[in-house]
Amino acid sequence: MLVSGQTLLDEAVRGGYAIGSFNTYNLEITRAILAAAEARRSAVFLAVGSGALDYGGFAPLTQLVLAAAREATVPVAVHLDHSPTVADCERCLSEGFTSLMIDGSNLPFDENVALTWQTVKRAGEIPVEGELGGVGGDEDSSGAQETAIPMTDPAQARAFVEQTGVASLAIAIGNAHGIYKGEPKLDFDRLAALRDAVPAPLVLHGASGLSDDDLRRAISLGVRKINVNTEIRQTLFGSLDRSLEQGVKGYDVTRLFGVAMEAMQRTVEEKIEVFSGSPSFSS
Ligand code: 13P
Repeated sequence: MLVSGQTLLDEAVRGGYAIGSFNTYNLEITRAILAAAEARRSAVFLAVGSGALDYGGFAPLTQLVLAAAREATVPVAVHLDHSPTVADCERCLSEGFTSLMIDGSNLPFDENVALTWQTVKRAGEIPVEGELGGVGGDEDSSGAQETAIPMTDPAQARAFVEQTGVASLAIAIGNAHGIYKGEPKLDFDRLAALRDAVPAPLVLHGASGLSDDDLRRAISLGVRKINVNTEIRQTLFGSLDRSLEQGVKGYDVTRLFGVAMEAMQRTVEEKIEVFSGSPSFSS
């Protein structure tokens, strides 16, 4: 069932866990994410970024994800990931998206505040995620990435949330999109300070490549939404490579992509288990 992202954030805050946000580009990834959520009886954010909308076509992809979310037997928020403009947010709002992210993190603080505030105002009841600090890397392709610089400053983050009214805040604590260059090193002291300073749930981008222990620790320190993209794509490519190497009888599309969907479902289920399990680190 399609629900507001606010419902999912509220429940994660109440329960002290994180909701997974998984990026989709097409039918197969969408079905795999929702199959995992249903198998685990877990709510999810089904996230679509600008690159995916360009690739899939705005109407075909938005209608696909919204229809799939409505049909799901668990709560699903359809989320616009990393929108650079208010206009893109408005377009997705009028289509029926139930969660938005406006990303002004590469702008000077005041301009980021202005862009984000404008989006929050237009979004009304629909929750808006803002971002402060630099999460490195590319959201759609995954070369080796430097970790995030600059990291989010707690006092500035508090001011940002107060001035914009965002429902959640994406933070930079050493996390990066794509494949980490070397061992990822999250700044957990900074995360604890952010949790204490910021009056909104915290969002961790760039979860692919982070250890389960790091993810659990981040949850124990206040992260309530965690974004995963690259690991799903790695699973998809790995599955297609293996299938094509072995050969798929009769050029059977349902077999080729069916096997890939099962593999992606397993990847998403593993993440959901980590995100919703009891945190093993105390704050
Ligand atoms: P990864 O691709 O590193 O998993 O990051 C996903 C993300 O943060 C989407 O916004």
